Amino acid sequence: MVRLCVVGMGHVGVVTASCFAGLGYSVTGVDKDHDKLMLLSQGKPPFFEPGLSELLRGGIDKDLLFFTEDFDEAIKASEVIFICVGTPSLEDGSVDLTQVEEVARGIAANLNDYKLIVGKSTVPVGTAKKIKQTIKLINGDNCPDFDVSSNPEFLKEGSAVNDFLFPDRVVLGVDSKRAEIILKDLYRDFDCPVLTTDIATSEIIKYASNAFLAMKISYINLVADMCDKVGANVHHVADGMGYDRRINREFLSAGAGYGGSCFPKDVKAFTSLAADLGINVSLLREVDRINEKRICLIVKRLEDTLWVCKDKKISVLGMAFKCNTDDVRESPALKLISKLADKGCQICCYDPKAMSNVRAQLNGLYELISFAESPYEAARGADALVFMTDWPEFGKLDFLKIKELMRSPIIVDGRGMLHAHDLEETGFLYQGLGLGGRLSCQ
Ligand code: UDX
Repeated sequence: MVRLCVVGMGHVGVVTASCFAGLGYSVTGVDKDHDKLMLLSQGKPPFFEPGLSELLRGGIDKDLLFFTEDFDEAIKASEVIFICVGTPSLEDGSVDLTQVEEVARGIAANLNDYKLIVGKSTVPVGTAKKIKQTIKLINGDNCPDFDVSSNPEFLKEGSAVNDFLFPDRVVLGVDSKRAEIILKDLYRDFDCPVLTTDIATSEIIKYASNAFLAMKISYINLVADMCDKVGANVHHVADGMGYDRRINREFLSAGAGYGGSCFPKDVKAFTSLAADLGINVSLLREVDRINEKRICLIVKRLEDTLWVCKDKKISVLGMAFKCNTDDVRESPALKLISKLADKGCQICCYDPKAMSNVRAQLNGLYELISFAESPYEAARGADALVFMTDWPEFGKLDFLKIKELMRSPIIVDGRGMLHAHDLEETGFLYQGLGLGGRLSCQ
């Protein structure tokens, strides 16, 4: 059976390595981070992802999954190499490909036999070509046979294992029959459409998909603003739209906007790519602008009720960029905290899974910040409670107890996840986004 290597043990890399091991392949995961590799070797994922630790332990126990810092050996011993390293944003929105380039050079130096190099990291169009060019340049006339292909991931954090094993589609961007055969064989047991394209098309599919989903979110947030003006309910509007199969209800949840390591970065990168190609990017720019404005709207809701925010204790429930993850990268909650700190608020934050990442990000950054161990501790003495992540357990809180603990019973529901009517009956002043501009939902 073909031996696989996955370079880069971030979210995508660990899920890819563990899932392929779960499918029976022998997989080596490579990274430079010694501590991370130690954790992985003990079967402990370095981040929270449902179902991942079971797969990881299963792969290790069956001697199918290995982790190493020895990049050279791992490359030499593998036939298919997945590149899953980070591709962060640069100041101008374009993509920093330093890590991808470094991996390409490393592979070039260890090309002892045929290798298929597969790009999984989200990269600008033309990256596969650059990898190929670099490897050829380094190896000169004696370059062994190799292929470069693109196989974008569509993994959502919180359901990444399920998304890997049961995808809506698999996209294979190839420019050789050999690469196509190997990749199709790897995915032969998947019960979904497998789309084979040229490499540029595959690279575009990833960006176009993420930018489209981000556009859906910004679109419904624009509709939410409209609902506020005319007294309509955006969640019902989304339901009404979503029954149309051409639209569908997914990614039409209005609220605090999108965050995470993908959408904000990918929208900016796609915009930068389009601009470089001389294409009018106003549509994509608007997606980003609407998203940025969501946080100001939440601050405005607080000011509408509290009047002056300075010195008030505002507790933020939910710090992860969405539920079922401990990831706080580009989290709307972090952006809100920064704005509240500028206004001189006392901030207290709580998240069921992300507190160690929150502490790592925020400790020492702001003077007036505290970290709670429970939602009730966060509520104690608070002037307002803002819900920023749609954790299901927040819906089951004892709101009567919360109200008794708070200084003033104000709730801002940044995710449209709570029952406004019930909360009002309990005596809260409830505020949502896109619920008719009234302070409370009717
Ligand atoms: C995304 C893509 O969905 C995935 O296919 C890709 O490979 C990686 O990027 P992820 O970043 O894990 O996945 O999260 P996703 O579930 O897409 O949510 C992104 C953000 O949008 C979150 O902050 C979420 O809260 C927000 N969101 C999502 C909304 O605000 N409204 C919605 O209706 C859906």
